[in-house]
Amino acid sequence: MDYSIESTPLEKLQCDCLVVGVYQNAQLSPSATALDVCTQGLLSEIVQRGDMGGKLGDILFLNAIPNSAIKRILLVGLGENKPLSNKHYLKALAATAANLKKPYIKTVAVSLAECAVLDADWQWKVRQIAETFGDAVYQYTHTKSDKETESKLEQVIITVPEMAKDLANAGLQQGKAIGEGVALAKWLADLPGNICTPSFLAEQATLLSGKHDKLDISILEEADMAQLGMGSLLSVTRGSRQPAKLICLHFHGGEKNAKPIVLVGKGLTFDAGGISLKPGLGMDEMKYDMCGGAAVIGTVQAAAQMDLPLNIIGLIPASENMPDGDANKPGDIWTSMSGKTIEILNTDAEGRLILCDTLTYAEQFNPDVVIDLATLTGACLVALGRIPSGLLGNDDALCNDLIAASETANDSIWRLPLWEEYQELLKSNFADMANIGGKDAGTITAACFLARFAENFRWAHLDIAGTAWRSGSQKGATGRPVPLLSQYLIDRSNAL
Ligand code: BES
Ligand code: MN
Ligand code: ZN
Repeated sequence: MDYSIESTPLEKLQCDCLVVGVYQNAQLSPSATALDVCTQGLLSEIVQRGDMGGKLGDILFLNAIPNSAIKRILLVGLGENKPLSNKHYLKALAATAANLKKPYIKTVAVSLAECAVLDADWQWKVRQIAETFGDAVYQYTHTKSDKETESKLEQVIITVPEMAKDLANAGLQQGKAIGEGVALAKWLADLPGNICTPSFLAEQATLLSGKHDKLDISILEEADMAQLGMGSLLSVTRGSRQPAKLICLHFHGGEKNAKPIVLVGKGLTFDAGGISLKPGLGMDEMKYDMCGGAAVIGTVQAAAQMDLPLNIIGLIPASENMPDGDANKPGDIWTSMSGKTIEILNTDAEGRLILCDTLTYAEQFNPDVVIDLATLTGACLVALGRIPSGLLGNDDALCNDLIAASETANDSIWRLPLWEEYQELLKSNFADMANIGGKDAGTITAACFLARFAENFRWAHLDIAGTAWRSGSQKGATGRPVPLLSQYLIDRSNAL
């Protein structure tokens, strides 16, 4: 999709549809007022009759405008006539984008960046338009015979006043990059497990690295992992016929000696549970157990596209977790790369097993911070539902930076405690630790397990089990937390 910034008055733009905001109590936004003038009072008549009440997210589509060169107008309700919260602004944008999926709309001009939003500048407001539209037109077709998409949108013109053009262009560049990162993460995640295997993820990461000069890739094969002593990671892949891969993307955007930000994403391309087999109902959704890895790939793409002045390393341990004669058995004990031994009491707690060796591997990069993201525990859904991702970590400053970024990006997270009192739940009689902590506090004990492998750096863990995809009739990946991580990286760049 093509985006551009224009300062031409809306009514002079040749488009299939013009989008303007309307507040409650029949109050028109500035752009709506301008269109009202050139439509002989059509819009004020409509709002005064009450046909469009202006409630937040309400939509009225005008498909024909009498005596006018304007083809169509989409009125969007903005609620009360006062500055919007960022959530409400995004709600209005989402309603707009959802209503523009029509066979006859290829080009659209959007004036909504003019509306006042609390604590938001032109850059943020324009960026959100690009992100929201990018998200709305995403449609999975890869394995459908009919590749026709609902949206025919080709061109989005975002109108802003002349003085706001520089900020708007900066916001547009970011919004496109983040939107495309989200779309890439969604696509990888929505692909079925028989296509999106560890090897496929490695190929896609390799393709990405070929597109950017500052992006390199290396891929560790099982033999390399064995050499490094990654007994924990390798134990998970034993039951699978697909070879595991440890994908390492290196983005060199920063000073040569600047410490890298390391992102680690769980890339479990299908989680059957192993010998501790999962129940059948809804097991298909365990193709989404690689959403952490997909989000790392999407975020690295966004960072490269924005050309951020940072060094970023994306590490994705990719494997399947399957039952097999050679698979992990409950009670098996393996030695991790760190030298610590792990008793596997439940083969379905495999995410932490592939992540722990990857965290140890991350040490060699002398990271500034390490952030891992993983669809790690069903318990996270019990604790927090599907609204925020879970956040746990060993560094308050890093956690607070992530919380601030999540608020700006509207990609929410909520911190849970990582107190050492929880650590005793992981006690094993036969190894240094067990891989599960019993029925209580499952998200916390999973993070406690990871914390034991993250002692040598500042580290945060995002449990995205409730946020990475939607179930039910709207089943599909969300691309979260690409917006949050992209924002964190933007904030880090701005702080240099
Ligand atoms: N990938 C799952 C976690 C998961 C389950 C995410 C459902 C989203 C929805 C993970 O590998 C897993 O199976 N975790 C177990 C841990 C348990 C055995 C301690 C879980 O949550 O049941
Ligand atoms: Mn599992
Ligand atoms: Zn899993």
